[in-house]
Amino acid sequence: MPEFKRYLVTAALPYANGPIHIGHLAGCYLPADIYVRYLRAKKLPVKFICGTDEHGVPITIKALQENTTPQAIVDHYHTLIRDSFAAVDISFDIFSRTSKPIHHETAQAFFKKLYNEGYFEVKETEQFYDEEKQMFLADRYIVGTCPVCGYEKAYGDQCEKCGSSLSPDELINPRSALSDSVPLKRKTKHWYMPLQRFEPWLRKWILEQHREWKANVYGQCKSWLDHGLQPRAMTRDSQWGVKVPLPEAEGKVLYVWFDAPIGYISATKELLPDTWKDWWQREDTRLIHFIGKDNIVFHCIIFPAMLKAHGDFVLPDNVPANEFLNIEGQKVSTSRNWAVWVHEYIHDFPPEQRGQDVLRYVLCANMPETKDNDFTWKDFQDRNNNELVAILGNFVNRTLVLMHKLCKGKVPPFHEEVQDEADQHLYAYLQKAKHNIENAIEQFHFRDALMEVMNVAREGNKYLQEKAPWLLAKDQATQLVNQPIIDNTIFMCLQLTANLAIFLNPFLPATARKICYLLKVVDRMLEWENAGSLKLLSVGYSLRAPELLFRKIEDAEIEKQIQKLQTAEQASATSTAVSTPQPTQATVKPTINYDDFDKLDLRVGTIIAAEKVKQADKLLQLTVDLGFEQRTIVSGIAQYFQPDQIIGQQVVVVANLAPRKLKGIVSQGMILMAEDDQGKLHFVTPSDNIPPGGKVS
Ligand code: MF3
Ligand code: ZN
Repeated sequence: MPEFKRYLVTAALPYANGPIHIGHLAGCYLPADIYVRYLRAKKLPVKFICGTDEHGVPITIKALQENTTPQAIVDHYHTLIRDSFAAVDISFDIFSRTSKPIHHETAQAFFKKLYNEGYFEVKETEQFYDEEKQMFLADRYIVGTCPVCGYEKAYGDQCEKCGSSLSPDELINPRSALSDSVPLKRKTKHWYMPLQRFEPWLRKWILEQHREWKANVYGQCKSWLDHGLQPRAMTRDSQWGVKVPLPEAEGKVLYVWFDAPIGYISATKELLPDTWKDWWQREDTRLIHFIGKDNIVFHCIIFPAMLKAHGDFVLPDNVPANEFLNIEGQKVSTSRNWAVWVHEYIHDFPPEQRGQDVLRYVLCANMPETKDNDFTWKDFQDRNNNELVAILGNFVNRTLVLMHKLCKGKVPPFHEEVQDEADQHLYAYLQKAKHNIENAIEQFHFRDALMEVMNVAREGNKYLQEKAPWLLAKDQATQLVNQPIIDNTIFMCLQLTANLAIFLNPFLPATARKICYLLKVVDRMLEWENAGSLKLLSVGYSLRAPELLFRKIEDAEIEKQIQKLQTAEQASATSTAVSTPQPTQATVKPTINYDDFDKLDLRVGTIIAAEKVKQADKLLQLTVDLGFEQRTIVSGIAQYFQPDQIIGQQVVVVANLAPRKLKGIVSQGMILMAEDDQGKLHFVTPSDNIPPGGKVS
């Protein structure tokens, strides 16, 4: 990688309207972090830029729904997201926010330059307007009947039932998703960027000059370009966002996809007030955008067109986008709460046990680099127990234990005269591995790279097994004779352990540092130029007592996670509003036998207290009397019942459901609800009042 002097690495700015889940990590932040840590280890100048994307319609809608302000929403999620990234050791040089003044100024100046140079076309169009909420409705917020399949809850941009992509005008009986009122058409004026004018240049730049881009990225770009680009509005009617810097644009803001990528520039300015121009304006900067596949068109076509039009900035040299990570075979869905949230994961697998490295390992091993991939808790457990514990942890542990046992706790010398083929082979393997790992990382093949790292540990185990130094030391006399060979074996294994720390560092940084601690070397040893050396640990140096790097994960922990995923989904399913299509009534779940049914302990209970759960508009916290005890149960029914109306209500409770934390409250059971054809929920109650605790079967 010679021609570049500095690396500017960005990771997509997450929307500050929800927490981040492990799909985000696997798609974008983890690969970016691995790459950046590798570059830093190579002592190359690199800056890693990110922050929250705090504008856009979904944030204003969420504020409306939660009866609060957009500012409150973004403040809350900025902190949560920032802390989640920190907990899994994503090492941004800056994690900024697009709500900062420096960003508003930068984005406005960018717009103004394009405006002054005549890059915009002004167009007046008619758009749907919600009179009740007094706002123009983005496509997503218009619902109606799909003209293709007749599904009644299709969105203005897409029908989720048949997959057709739609425009709001095509919907039959359009309604506002916010107020359910019939939207009116209103005239509005917007500034459009004529993307079609950039088409010839984009074709050349991407299709000819960037053939090396990943196939999924290149393919999507080609398909966009082949379909022909259209003018795209770069402004929106809204109160929330970067104000359009034109006197005649009252009540209008920059389109979120215009302002957000400029956030990369603003954040760099904030980080490097004096030198940011070197990073953005010199041709020898290598700009790399890490993103998920849903961001490809914005980073490969729209933003580059903006940059090209502006003229002062470098263009991305690569845009390594990943596909999606599914969870237990299903697409992640925030509305259905089908996701593994990073802050919740870290709570259950905390940094004190290096839980973040287990996650980084599993996500990297399953990284959706070329196609969508699946995360399952079972695979998480298997990879931890069979790979991290049994291969990597085991090798390091055996090495240290044997060193203490057979070499008095010190790094033994290496005796050239008894060097054998196995030693030579291991050394050659190490050199090859280094080369392969470098190549794989530089080509953004992080799964392969990690596999190569693990193969080094595998090779170490094989070597140790073959040499079997414990056999050479089965009694004192034998050990005396064999000590030189024993020394060589332990020497090789120790140096290999130090090399493993260097290789692991971009992937599992906390584990790499832990190995440094055990080997009593400073973190500087982790610099990449040290990789491949057999002189990392000095002869005669005494090392720390062994400690296990990873612990086994038990079945019960995994079951708990699977259950948590399912309960969270149910809690959201019983409470989702119009927007999420429900599975059809006619499909019955797979048959179970009587024993399965008999595991359920269903009881009659009486609700004796109820209150709303703070910051969760769908949840009620109930106290339910079961006769033999009172339970706290969190239920997703707040949209259908007022707390004071349901006191005294008899209900049926699943009494032996594992407790589950919802919004910080431990819910000890579940209440059975029946759903009518409108999706409204009703209590399931005995026909007569009966004493609480009564069995239901
Ligand atoms: N907020 C967008 C998303 O989560 C990504 C924005 S990336 C940026 O999909 F470049 F626009 F900042
Ligand atoms: Zn349809």
